[in-house]
Amino acid sequence: MKIAILREQAAGERRVSGTPETVKKFKALGAEVAVEAGAGLTASIADADYAAAGAAVGDRAATVAGADIILGVQGPAPDSITGAKPGAWIAAGLNPFGDRARVDAYAAAGFEALAMEFMPRITRAQSMDILSSQSNLSGYKAVLDAAYEYGRAFPMMMTAAGTVSAAKCFVMGVGVAGLQAIATARRLGAQVSATDVRAATKEQIESLGAKAIFVEKVAGIEGEGAGGYATEMSDEYKAAQAELVSSHIAKQDIVITTALIPGRAAPRLITDAQIASMKPGSVIVDLAVEQGGNVEGAVAGEVVERHGVKIVGHRNVPSRLAADTSALFARNLYNFLSAFWDKEKNAPVLDDEIGNAIRLTQGGKVVNERLLG
Ligand code: NAI
Repeated sequence: MKIAILREQAAGERRVSGTPETVKKFKALGAEVAVEAGAGLTASIADADYAAAGAAVGDRAATVAGADIILGVQGPAPDSITGAKPGAWIAAGLNPFGDRARVDAYAAAGFEALAMEFMPRITRAQSMDILSSQSNLSGYKAVLDAAYEYGRAFPMMMTAAGTVSAAKCFVMGVGVAGLQAIATARRLGAQVSATDVRAATKEQIESLGAKAIFVEKVAGIEGEGAGGYATEMSDEYKAAQAELVSSHIAKQDIVITTALIPGRAAPRLITDAQIASMKPGSVIVDLAVEQGGNVEGAVAGEVVERHGVKIVGHRNVPSRLAADTSALFARNLYNFLSAFWDKEKNAPVLDDEIGNAIRLTQGGKVVNERLLG
């Protein structure tokens, strides 16, 4: 059983899918581990550290040659892994809706592609969930990015020269990233408020010491769909939300948006007119910018200014904290493979619940129902 850890090739990707810690653990399970030279450099891991953990460090061809399982943060280019075993697994974040052509290419090449972002949101899979582990640190980094762009301080400060008032920070979308953004903004001393469409988040917001801003008295709000995710809201709800948010947003210094609906474009939460109502110097961070954006005018990969307000649209925010996010990503992969490790076969054997959820391709075909439907 050979596991290959590749050097990521996507532009701007600094993370790596394995660490010396997970190399050691895979070896303890009985696997052989190969790491592509330089794979960890952008996440502050030297080749020598992988070698010391027991990995064979070599070029891509040697790393992939005869591999049974290929790990990645993002999916490797299909033509760069042709030396792997027939039917080899590819376990990575595969962006199945955004990059369907690559999924089809994995199928054509006979690989079994496993999309780690399709991991079901069930208790036993929590430790395998890359969306959670990466979103958590994105929420943290979003607040630091806002603080960096903001020309004022976050905490209230009483100085001999007078008082600096606390920044008002509003978090829209209180999933994993939003909760961490609330906690981080609170630690920095901001006055924090937050909103979501899922009613269950109200208590979570308040338990973090922030103010919950919620649409009330609108009929037919569910907000929570399958797997604890949000659903598309009614037009009546959207109108009520827009009105509530408009009056609130005009008073904010910092807004962090994180709202996503799986398999769809991100919901539009902030219009240009609402941006115009904010004070000059305010900062908006759109964490959903790569999924279409929550904020009108946000540009992926750029910090733009509209009406004197900065709109931050960094791509791949987890990659901006590559050492920590890699460590968590690598553990997610290890937790996943080790949970299914069959000692006699010295290989992982997936069960149906998780296997069917994450398996995209098998036997030359696309097999995942979310891609077939
Ligand atoms: P996400 O990244 O899909 O979305 C972020 C947030 O945006 C969600 O809270 C969603 O309700 C909100 N949102 C969507 N449309 C909105 C709108 N129009 N206005 C305002 N907010 C909007 O969500 P994430 O972070 O992946 O978490 C979703 C849920 O899954 C949470 O309840 C989380 O606790 C749960 N979860 C469960 C896990 C498990 O049991 N293994 C693992 C991770 C998360």
